Amino acid sequence: MCGIIGYVGKSEAVPILLDGLERLEYRGYDSAGVAVVSPSNTLQVVKTKGRLSVLREHLDAQDPLCGTIGIGHTRWATHGEPNDTNAHPHVGSDGKIAVVHNGIIENYLEIRASLERKGIPFHSETDTEVIAQLLEYYYKKLGNIMNAVYAVLGRIEGAYAMGILCEDFPGQMIAARKDAPLLIGYGEDGNFIASDVTALLAHTRTVTYMEDGEVAVLTGDSVQIYDRERSPITKERHTVDWDVSAAEKGGYAHFMLKEIMEQGEAVRKTISPRIKDGRIFIEELAGMEGYLEGLRKICIVACGSAFHVGMVGKYVLERLLRIPVDAYLASEFRYSEPLLGDDTLVIVISQSGETLDSMAALREAKKRGSKVLSIVNVVGSSIARESDITLYTWAGPEIAVATTKAYTTQMALLILLGVYCADMNGRISEEEYKTILADFLALPEKVDEVLKNIEAYQKAASRYFNQNSVFYIGRNLDYALGLEGSLKLKEISYIHSESYAAGELKHGTISLIEPGTLVISLATYAPLLEKTRSNIVEVRARGADVIVVATEETAPAVKDQADELLVIPNTHRLLQPVLAVIPLQLFAYYVALNRGCDIDKPRNLAKSVTVE
Ligand code: G6P
Repeated sequence: MCGIIGYVGKSEAVPILLDGLERLEYRGYDSAGVAVVSPSNTLQVVKTKGRLSVLREHLDAQDPLCGTIGIGHTRWATHGEPNDTNAHPHVGSDGKIAVVHNGIIENYLEIRASLERKGIPFHSETDTEVIAQLLEYYYKKLGNIMNAVYAVLGRIEGAYAMGILCEDFPGQMIAARKDAPLLIGYGEDGNFIASDVTALLAHTRTVTYMEDGEVAVLTGDSVQIYDRERSPITKERHTVDWDVSAAEKGGYAHFMLKEIMEQGEAVRKTISPRIKDGRIFIEELAGMEGYLEGLRKICIVACGSAFHVGMVGKYVLERLLRIPVDAYLASEFRYSEPLLGDDTLVIVISQSGETLDSMAALREAKKRGSKVLSIVNVVGSSIARESDITLYTWAGPEIAVATTKAYTTQMALLILLGVYCADMNGRISEEEYKTILADFLALPEKVDEVLKNIEAYQKAASRYFNQNSVFYIGRNLDYALGLEGSLKLKEISYIHSESYAAGELKHGTISLIEPGTLVISLATYAPLLEKTRSNIVEVRARGADVIVVATEETAPAVKDQADELLVIPNTHRLLQPVLAVIPLQLFAYYVALNRGCDIDKPRNLAKSVTVE
């Protein structure tokens, strides 16, 4: 989704803005632009449809844009097609005020109509232009820029993170936030705003997270934040422990491949601090034993791959805790009038901690009296801050749009949480507890082992990269896993794919199987192996080619049915999906590579979805 960077200080702004925008590219975008106030106090804007390289060409083709204050934006179109005019920054009619904005202004049509009636012409189709025009209108009327900003915030409805420049105040940048992430960075020779911490890592790791309703005024050597009532407030500064190299490719062809390869380490960092002296210890849950024992239901809520983690969680937590556990898509859950109460725990899973639907689901759950526990990767993100309990995955920055290491760490942490609660409630035998704990400790090494089998994944991908349609089948945890495998493939390779519970195959999908159709069968769940084998036999009888993912334990029973067999090490049954997803990720990656796709930035997709 859209990205924002802003700088005010002693250095030239444009190179800092372009570098920041480059680091935000991963979020997904279709146009980009910058605005700078020049030393002669003139606002200058350059913006264009397309990649940042096109913006750079535009900037190179004209007199250099000088100035030590500027804002930049990468746009992911919502209102109005991607074109030069709709790109940000947007300016008011007098060209004095420029705005970059993430989010959606819901009442923009009504405001636009009222300004048009006053004779103010509009140029773009965006909701953001309304902010720029309204700001200029109020600035003229009230004669004070801060009064104008608060007047605008009082009129607009919806979500926003915004950066504002006014050429009458050439050393000052204003920022405001509601329901869209925005943070302030404190640098050595200037200050920053950004929608995402990765844009700032090259300059500073000291940040403040803005909250809803806050407005900030930044100069080169000062930052003042105000609350909704316009009273100055002092806020905590946080140190981000990610470093710049963690957000760089480090010799890999793609971020996605790098992040897949980092999964052993990411799982280790997420799990090992939570295992002490042979027991699982989740510090964030200390003192909550009574509450956890009284739970009658768990709802897991998330979007995309995080929802697929929730599907794994449904099977694992239900089996361990023996209470009903359901996984919901956040976009459905929030509008479903969910039956919640204080004996229901809502678990929200989100890599970014900023997904709008997940955030709204969280608020709905709290409103209905449930506690919210979130599993989040980005420290200080909105979901993390609004949850009653936050468990962080320590996966480090994830840049590729298609998630990999965030998915595996979320899954490992959710299973760890399940075992912890089962132990607390006396629902797991000491013997099984010990076995699963030993397998948890061995998990990072086993992840690395699966990653070594790269040639097998490359071979399968080069054999099947030309498919039109691929079907994933599996039962129980393998079904949950198939959902993620299928999503990975369609996201980055643009091949149509579907995931089906293997037992459901005969109720529809089997009609699509014809000679040469590729079916990826997940056969890692030992208790249902014979059933899964029968389903493989059924699709082969109709001419399908089958790639089978199996464990060392299950492989002997299915290898005669496999055109390609991908074998992973054995681990505890409930942990198996953490290993089994890796061949699926790498198969998708190499298929996309063979097809020449833009793997890290697939078309139309965004890393962090901050609109409905
Ligand atoms: C987008 C991303 C997915 C991600 C989903 C949820 O669609 O492309 O990879 O799973 O959002 O994001 P979250 O940050 O909440 O995990």
